[in-house]
Amino acid sequence: MSHRIAVVEGDGIGPEVIPEARKILEHFLTDADFFEVELGLAKWEKTGSACSPDDIRELKGADAIIFGAVTTPPDPDYRSVLLQIRHELDLYANLRPIRSLQSSGDGSSVDMMIVRENTEGLYSGIEEIGTERSTTLRVVTKAGSRRIAEKACSLVLERDRNHPLVIGYKGNVLKSDLLFRDTCQETAEAYGIKTQAVFIDALCLDVLQHPNKYDVIVTTNMFGDILSDVCGYLTGGLGMLPSANIGEKYAFFEPVHGSAPDIAGKGIANPVAAIRSAAMMLEYFGMKDEACLVEESISSLISRGISTPDLGGMASTSEFGSRLVDAVSKK
Ligand code: NAI
Ligand code: MG
Repeated sequence: MSHRIAVVEGDGIGPEVIPEARKILEHFLTDADFFEVELGLAKWEKTGSACSPDDIRELKGADAIIFGAVTTPPDPDYRSVLLQIRHELDLYANLRPIRSLQSSGDGSSVDMMIVRENTEGLYSGIEEIGTERSTTLRVVTKAGSRRIAEKACSLVLERDRNHPLVIGYKGNVLKSDLLFRDTCQETAEAYGIKTQAVFIDALCLDVLQHPNKYDVIVTTNMFGDILSDVCGYLTGGLGMLPSANIGEKYAFFEPVHGSAPDIAGKGIANPVAAIRSAAMMLEYFGMKDEACLVEESISSLISRGISTPDLGGMASTSEFGSRLVDAVSKK
Protein backbone atom coordinates (compact mmCIF):
# COMPACT_ATOMS: atom_id res chain seq x y z
CA MET A 1 0.00 0.00 0.00
CA SER A 2 1.37 3.40 -0.86
CA HIS A 3 1.41 5.92 1.96
CA ARG A 4 0.98 9.70 1.86
CA ILE A 5 3.50 11.27 4.20
CA ALA A 6 3.53 14.93 5.21
CA VAL A 7 6.98 16.33 5.92
CA VAL A 8 7.24 19.38 8.17
CA GLU A 9 10.82 20.53 8.65
CA GLY A 10 9.96 23.59 10.76
CA ASP A 11 12.55 25.96 12.21
CA GLY A 12 16.08 25.86 13.62
CA ILE A 13 17.60 22.38 13.35
CA GLY A 14 14.33 20.96 11.96
CA PRO A 15 15.47 21.48 8.33
CA GLU A 16 18.76 19.75 9.22
CA VAL A 17 17.50 16.62 10.99
CA ILE A 18 14.28 15.94 9.08
CA PRO A 19 15.98 15.33 5.69
CA GLU A 20 17.97 12.57 7.43
CA ALA A 21 14.78 11.00 8.78
CA ARG A 22 13.25 11.31 5.32
CA LYS A 23 16.18 9.42 3.77
CA ILE A 24 15.31 6.43 5.96
CA LEU A 25 11.60 6.66 5.16
CA GLU A 26 12.34 6.90 1.43
CA HIS A 27 14.62 3.88 1.70
CA PHE A 28 11.92 1.64 3.20
CA LEU A 29 8.74 3.20 1.80
CA THR A 30 9.77 3.20 -1.82
CA ASP A 31 6.36 3.98 -3.28
CA ALA A 32 5.29 6.54 -0.65
CA ASP A 33 4.15 9.96 -1.72
CA PHE A 34 5.94 12.67 0.29
CA PHE A 35 4.66 16.23 0.42
CA GLU A 36 6.00 19.20 2.34
CA VAL A 37 4.00 21.49 4.60
CA GLU A 38 5.58 24.71 5.84
CA LEU A 39 4.78 25.58 9.46
CA GLY A 40 6.39 27.54 12.24
CA LEU A 41 8.09 30.80 13.06
CA ALA A 42 9.58 31.45 9.62
CA LYS A 43 6.14 31.07 8.09
CA TRP A 44 4.59 33.30 10.77
CA GLU A 45 7.12 36.02 10.00
CA LYS A 46 6.28 35.80 6.28
CA THR A 47 2.51 35.37 6.43
CA GLY A 48 1.38 36.26 9.96
CA SER A 49 0.21 32.68 10.52
CA ALA A 50 2.36 29.81 11.78
CA CYS A 51 -0.26 27.18 10.97
CA SER A 52 -3.38 28.00 8.99
CA PRO A 53 -6.64 26.05 8.58
CA ASP A 54 -5.37 25.03 5.11
CA ASP A 55 -2.23 23.61 6.69
CA ILE A 56 -4.33 21.57 9.11
CA ARG A 57 -6.38 20.27 6.15
CA GLU A 58 -3.18 19.24 4.39
CA LEU A 59 -1.91 17.44 7.48
CA LYS A 60 -5.22 15.62 7.78
CA GLY A 61 -4.76 14.36 4.23
CA ALA A 62 -1.63 12.42 5.24
CA ASP A 63 -1.41 8.84 6.50
CA ALA A 64 1.37 10.02 8.80
CA ILE A 65 3.34 13.18 9.50
CA ILE A 66 7.05 13.58 10.24
CA PHE A 67 7.79 16.86 11.99
CA GLY A 68 11.05 18.58 13.04
CA ALA A 69 10.54 21.39 15.53
CA VAL A 70 9.26 24.93 15.57
CA THR A 71 10.58 27.98 17.39
CA THR A 72 8.15 29.77 19.68
CA PRO A 73 8.48 33.56 19.55
CA PRO A 74 8.23 35.48 22.83
CA ASP A 75 4.80 36.86 21.92
CA PRO A 76 1.77 36.18 24.16
CA ASP A 77 -0.57 36.30 21.12
CA TYR A 78 1.30 33.53 19.32
CA ARG A 79 -0.64 30.29 19.37
CA SER A 80 1.56 27.22 19.83
CA VAL A 81 1.66 25.28 16.57
CA LEU A 82 2.08 21.98 18.33
CA LEU A 83 -0.82 22.53 20.70
CA GLN A 84 -2.96 23.52 17.75
CA ILE A 85 -2.04 20.38 15.78
CA ARG A 86 -2.45 18.08 18.78
CA HIS A 87 -5.91 19.50 19.44
CA GLU A 88 -7.13 19.68 15.84
CA LEU A 89 -5.95 16.16 15.01
CA ASP A 90 -6.91 14.90 18.47
CA LEU A 91 -3.51 13.28 18.96
CA TYR A 92 -4.25 12.26 22.52
CA ALA A 93 -1.41 9.83 23.16
CA ASN A 94 2.17 11.05 23.17
CA LEU A 95 4.40 7.96 23.31
CA ARG A 96 7.98 8.64 24.30
CA PRO A 97 10.21 5.58 24.43
CA ILE A 98 13.30 5.99 26.60
CA ARG A 99 15.72 3.38 25.36
CA SER A 100 19.46 3.23 25.63
CA LEU A 101 20.97 2.02 22.41
CA GLN A 102 23.23 -0.85 23.37
CA SER A 103 22.41 -3.41 25.97
CA SER A 104 25.33 -3.54 28.35
CA GLY A 105 24.50 -7.17 29.03
CA ASP A 106 24.34 -6.63 32.81
CA GLY A 107 20.72 -5.63 32.80
CA SER A 108 21.54 -1.96 33.21
CA SER A 109 20.21 -0.90 29.84
CA VAL A 110 17.19 1.36 29.95
CA ASP A 111 13.93 0.58 28.18
CA MET A 112 10.78 2.32 29.30
CA MET A 113 7.83 4.08 27.72
CA ILE A 114 6.38 7.38 28.86
CA VAL A 115 2.72 7.68 27.89
CA ARG A 116 1.83 11.35 28.09
CA GLU A 117 -1.74 12.61 27.86
CA ASN A 118 -1.50 15.07 25.02
CA THR A 119 -4.67 17.14 24.72
CA GLU A 120 -5.61 18.43 28.17
CA GLY A 121 -3.93 19.04 31.55
CA LEU A 122 -2.03 22.32 31.86
CA TYR A 123 -1.67 22.53 28.08
CA SER A 124 -5.41 22.95 27.60
CA GLY A 125 -4.77 26.26 25.85
CA ILE A 126 -7.43 27.87 28.05
CA GLU A 127 -5.75 30.98 29.41
CA GLU A 128 -6.49 34.50 30.53
CA ILE A 129 -3.47 36.69 30.18
CA GLY A 130 -3.37 40.02 32.01
CA THR A 131 -0.72 42.39 33.22
CA GLU A 132 -1.48 41.84 36.94
CA ARG A 133 -2.82 38.30 36.85
CA SER A 134 -2.58 35.49 34.32
CA THR A 135 -4.21 32.10 34.63
CA THR A 136 -4.02 28.81 32.77
CA LEU A 137 -6.75 26.26 33.28
CA ARG A 138 -5.67 22.70 34.05
CA VAL A 139 -8.27 20.34 32.62
CA VAL A 140 -8.54 16.67 33.57
CA THR A 141 -11.53 14.72 32.28
CA LYS A 142 -12.63 11.19 32.99
CA ALA A 143 -12.89 10.40 29.27
CA GLY A 144 -9.46 11.90 28.53
CA SER A 145 -7.88 10.02 31.43
CA ARG A 146 -9.56 6.77 30.47
CA ARG A 147 -8.41 6.78 26.85
CA ILE A 148 -4.79 7.50 27.76
CA ALA A 149 -4.92 4.84 30.50
CA GLU A 150 -6.25 2.34 27.95
CA LYS A 151 -3.36 3.15 25.62
CA ALA A 152 -0.89 2.70 28.50
CA CYS A 153 -2.49 -0.61 29.55
CA SER A 154 -2.32 -1.98 26.02
CA LEU A 155 1.39 -1.11 25.99
CA VAL A 156 1.95 -2.86 29.34
CA LEU A 157 0.37 -6.01 27.88
CA GLU A 158 2.25 -5.75 24.59
CA ARG A 159 5.62 -5.23 26.31
CA ASP A 160 4.81 -8.14 28.66
CA ARG A 161 7.43 -7.45 31.32
CA ASN A 162 5.37 -8.09 34.40
CA HIS A 163 5.92 -4.56 35.68
CA PRO A 164 3.13 -2.47 37.20
CA LEU A 165 1.78 0.52 35.33
CA VAL A 166 3.28 3.56 37.07
CA ILE A 167 1.02 6.60 37.32
CA GLY A 168 2.92 9.89 37.64
CA TYR A 169 0.71 12.47 39.38
CA LYS A 170 0.63 15.19 42.03
CA GLY A 171 -2.70 14.60 43.73
CA ASN A 172 -1.54 15.87 47.12
CA VAL A 173 -1.56 19.40 45.70
CA LEU A 174 -3.55 19.25 42.46
CA LYS A 175 -6.92 17.71 43.24
CA SER A 176 -7.58 17.42 39.50
CA ASP A 177 -4.94 14.70 39.52
CA LEU A 178 -7.01 12.47 41.81
CA LEU A 179 -9.47 12.02 38.95
CA PHE A 180 -6.54 11.14 36.70
CA ARG A 181 -5.07 8.65 39.19
CA ASP A 182 -8.40 7.01 40.05
CA THR A 183 -9.40 6.65 36.41
CA CYS A 184 -6.02 5.10 35.53
CA GLN A 185 -6.36 2.68 38.45
CA GLU A 186 -9.91 1.68 37.50
CA THR A 187 -8.90 1.16 33.87
CA ALA A 188 -5.85 -0.90 34.80
CA GLU A 189 -7.93 -3.05 37.11
CA ALA A 190 -10.24 -3.88 34.22
CA TYR A 191 -7.17 -4.99 32.22
CA GLY A 192 -5.87 -7.04 35.18
CA ILE A 193 -2.81 -4.78 35.47
CA LYS A 194 -1.28 -3.68 38.79
CA THR A 195 -0.56 0.01 39.27
CA GLN A 196 1.75 2.11 41.37
CA ALA A 197 0.91 5.80 41.82
CA VAL A 198 4.00 7.96 42.42
CA PHE A 199 4.26 11.71 42.98
CA ILE A 200 5.81 13.19 39.88
CA ASP A 201 8.57 15.14 41.61
CA ALA A 202 9.84 12.05 43.43
CA LEU A 203 9.44 10.08 40.21
CA CYS A 204 11.75 12.48 38.32
CA LEU A 205 14.56 11.59 40.72
CA ASP A 206 13.82 7.89 41.12
CA VAL A 207 13.64 7.30 37.38
CA LEU A 208 17.24 8.55 37.13
CA GLN A 209 18.45 6.58 40.14
CA HIS A 210 16.64 3.30 39.35
CA PRO A 211 15.64 3.34 35.67
CA ASN A 212 15.36 -0.45 35.49
CA LYS A 213 12.44 -0.41 37.90
CA TYR A 214 10.27 1.24 35.27
CA ASP A 215 8.42 -0.04 32.25
CA VAL A 216 5.34 2.02 31.28
CA ILE A 217 4.66 5.36 32.98
CA VAL A 218 1.40 7.18 32.30
CA THR A 219 1.07 10.83 33.22
CA THR A 220 -0.61 14.12 32.42
CA ASN A 221 0.49 16.52 29.73
CA MET A 222 3.06 18.86 31.29
CA PHE A 223 4.43 16.25 33.69
CA GLY A 224 5.07 13.95 30.71
CA ASP A 225 6.78 16.77 28.86
CA ILE A 226 9.17 17.40 31.75
CA LEU A 227 9.71 13.75 32.69
CA SER A 228 10.71 12.82 29.14
CA ASP A 229 13.32 15.60 28.94
CA VAL A 230 14.63 14.47 32.35
CA CYS A 231 14.96 10.95 30.97
CA GLY A 232 17.05 12.32 28.11
CA TYR A 233 19.85 12.10 30.68
CA LEU A 234 19.59 8.30 30.58
CA THR A 235 19.99 7.97 26.84
CA GLY A 236 22.64 10.47 25.80
CA GLY A 237 20.65 13.69 25.66
CA LEU A 238 17.80 15.30 23.80
CA GLY A 239 19.28 14.42 20.42
CA MET A 240 18.37 10.77 21.08
CA LEU A 241 14.69 10.86 22.06
CA PRO A 242 11.90 10.16 19.54
CA SER A 243 8.15 10.40 19.99
CA ALA A 244 4.85 9.48 18.39
CA ASN A 245 1.64 11.47 18.81
CA ILE A 246 -1.22 9.12 18.08
CA GLY A 247 -4.98 9.64 17.86
CA GLU A 248 -7.84 7.58 16.49
CA LYS A 249 -7.37 8.93 12.96
CA TYR A 250 -3.96 10.59 12.65
CA ALA A 251 -0.35 9.90 13.56
CA PHE A 252 2.41 12.43 13.97
CA PHE A 253 6.08 11.61 14.62
CA GLU A 254 8.63 14.10 15.99
CA PRO A 255 11.84 14.27 17.97
CA VAL A 256 11.31 15.30 21.60
CA HIS A 257 13.79 18.15 21.27
CA GLY A 258 13.03 21.68 20.08
CA SER A 259 14.51 23.80 17.33
CA ALA A 260 17.84 24.26 19.19
CA PRO A 261 18.63 27.77 17.88
CA ASP A 262 22.01 27.64 19.67
CA ILE A 263 23.34 25.03 17.22
CA ALA A 264 21.12 25.66 14.17
CA GLY A 265 22.88 26.17 10.84
CA LYS A 266 26.10 24.50 11.98
CA GLY A 267 25.37 21.02 10.60
CA ILE A 268 26.11 19.39 13.96
CA ALA A 269 22.62 18.55 15.25
CA ASN A 270 22.13 14.92 16.17
CA PRO A 271 19.59 13.45 13.73
CA VAL A 272 19.03 10.26 15.79
CA ALA A 273 15.89 11.52 17.58
CA ALA A 274 14.32 12.42 14.22
CA ILE A 275 15.44 9.16 12.60
CA ARG A 276 14.09 7.10 15.52
CA SER A 277 10.81 9.01 15.12
CA ALA A 278 10.80 7.85 11.49
CA ALA A 279 11.42 4.30 12.76
CA MET A 280 8.36 4.67 15.01
CA MET A 281 6.41 5.60 11.87
CA LEU A 282 7.63 2.42 10.16
CA GLU A 283 6.45 0.43 13.18
CA TYR A 284 3.10 2.22 13.04
CA PHE A 285 2.82 1.04 9.41
CA GLY A 286 3.45 -2.54 10.61
CA MET A 287 7.14 -2.60 9.59
CA LYS A 288 8.54 -3.69 12.95
CA ASP A 289 11.53 -5.55 11.49
CA GLU A 290 12.56 -2.50 9.49
CA ALA A 291 12.19 -0.29 12.58
CA CYS A 292 14.41 -2.70 14.57
CA LEU A 293 16.98 -2.68 11.80
CA VAL A 294 17.16 1.12 11.97
CA GLU A 295 17.60 1.00 15.77
CA GLU A 296 20.30 -1.69 15.54
CA SER A 297 22.14 0.18 12.82
CA ILE A 298 22.12 3.40 14.86
CA SER A 299 23.56 1.44 17.82
CA SER A 300 26.20 -0.11 15.68
CA LEU A 301 27.35 3.21 14.18
CA ILE A 302 27.50 4.93 17.56
CA SER A 303 29.36 2.02 19.16
CA ARG A 304 31.96 2.42 16.38
CA GLY A 305 32.41 6.07 17.34
CA ILE A 306 30.41 7.46 14.43
CA SER A 307 28.23 10.15 15.96
CA THR A 308 27.57 13.88 16.09
CA PRO A 309 29.51 16.10 18.57
CA ASP A 310 26.84 15.96 21.33
CA LEU A 311 27.78 12.27 21.72
CA GLY A 312 31.49 12.99 21.45
CA GLY A 313 31.87 12.20 17.74
CA MET A 314 32.96 14.22 14.71
CA ALA A 315 30.23 13.38 12.19
CA SER A 316 28.02 16.07 10.73
CA THR A 317 24.24 15.67 10.71
CA SER A 318 24.10 14.64 7.06
CA GLU A 319 27.19 12.44 7.30
CA PHE A 320 25.57 10.43 10.10
CA GLY A 321 22.33 10.16 8.11
CA SER A 322 24.13 8.95 4.97
CA ARG A 323 26.22 6.41 6.90
CA LEU A 324 23.01 5.09 8.41
CA VAL A 325 21.35 4.64 5.03
CA ASP A 326 24.48 2.78 3.86
CA ALA A 327 24.34 0.57 6.97
CA VAL A 328 20.67 -0.39 6.56
CA SER A 329 21.15 -0.95 2.81
CA LYS A 330 23.86 -3.55 3.48
CA LYS A 331 21.66 -5.66 5.78
P1 NAI B 1 15.79 22.51 22.61
O1 NAI B 1 15.36 21.09 22.72
O2 NAI B 1 15.66 23.14 21.28
O3 NAI B 1 17.33 22.62 23.07
C1 NAI B 1 17.78 22.32 24.38
C2 NAI B 1 19.29 22.01 24.34
O4 NAI B 1 19.48 20.72 23.75
C3 NAI B 1 20.08 22.99 23.49
O5 NAI B 1 21.33 23.22 24.09
C4 NAI B 1 20.26 22.27 22.17
O6 NAI B 1 21.42 22.64 21.46
C5 NAI B 1 20.31 20.82 22.60
N1 NAI B 1 19.75 19.93 21.55
C6 NAI B 1 18.44 19.80 21.24
N2 NAI B 1 18.28 18.98 20.21
C7 NAI B 1 19.54 18.58 19.84
C8 NAI B 1 20.03 17.72 18.81
N3 NAI B 1 19.22 17.09 17.95
N4 NAI B 1 21.37 17.54 18.73
C9 NAI B 1 22.20 18.15 19.58
N5 NAI B 1 21.80 18.98 20.57
C10 NAI B 1 20.46 19.18 20.70
O7 NAI B 1 14.97 23.30 23.71
P2 NAI B 1 14.92 24.87 24.04
O8 NAI B 1 16.28 25.47 23.90
O9 NAI B 1 14.22 24.92 25.33
O10 NAI B 1 13.95 25.50 22.97
C11 NAI B 1 14.37 26.09 21.74
C12 NAI B 1 13.16 26.44 20.90
O11 NAI B 1 12.49 25.24 20.52
C13 NAI B 1 12.13 27.30 21.64
O12 NAI B 1 11.61 28.23 20.73
C14 NAI B 1 11.05 26.30 22.04
O13 NAI B 1 9.78 26.91 22.16
C15 NAI B 1 11.11 25.33 20.88
N6 NAI B 1 10.64 23.97 21.21
C16 NAI B 1 9.96 23.33 20.22
C17 NAI B 1 9.56 22.04 20.41
C18 NAI B 1 8.86 21.37 19.27
O14 NAI B 1 8.70 21.95 18.21
N7 NAI B 1 8.47 20.14 19.43
C19 NAI B 1 9.82 21.30 21.64
C20 NAI B 1 10.62 22.05 22.59
C21 NAI B 1 11.00 23.33 22.37
MG1 MG C 1 9.47 19.28 25.75
